[in-house]
Amino acid sequence: MSTDASSSDANATQILVCAADAVQEGGKGVRFPVTAGGDDGTGFVVRYQGIVYGYLNRCAHVPIELDWAEGEFFESSGLYLMCSTHGAIYVPDSGFCAGGPCRGGRLRPITVVERDQHIYWQPDDYVRPARA
Ligand code: FES
Repeated sequence: MSTDASSSDANATQILVCAADAVQEGGKGVRFPVTAGGDDGTGFVVRYQGIVYGYLNRCAHVPIELDWAEGEFFESSGLYLMCSTHGAIYVPDSGFCAGGPCRGGRLRPITVVERDQHIYWQPDDYVRPARA
């Protein structure tokens, strides 16, 4: 389902996540499959103050997924991302933990790019494309 797309950075692979309008301000996030440190996992994108942010979907407290229902990352105020398991909250634009058992921790950022009405993510040394 992923599609490689050309990039202005000749060496950077960018993989399609979804259409840009699928990720609304403070709304549901969109998940995408990755391998992280060799393990299968997911990343996600959310929109906060107009900008799209991407993170590995792995809590800094216990390394499990954050969303209680698929794509539900924001808590009710829309100001923080929240882990559904023990309520850790994270600042959407930095991934830093702002409260809960993850204190001092941070979500692992994933580089994302919004262009031509689509959102792409960019693999790095740790977060790689999902196994076929
Ligand atoms: S696993 Fe996320 S707060 Fe405990």
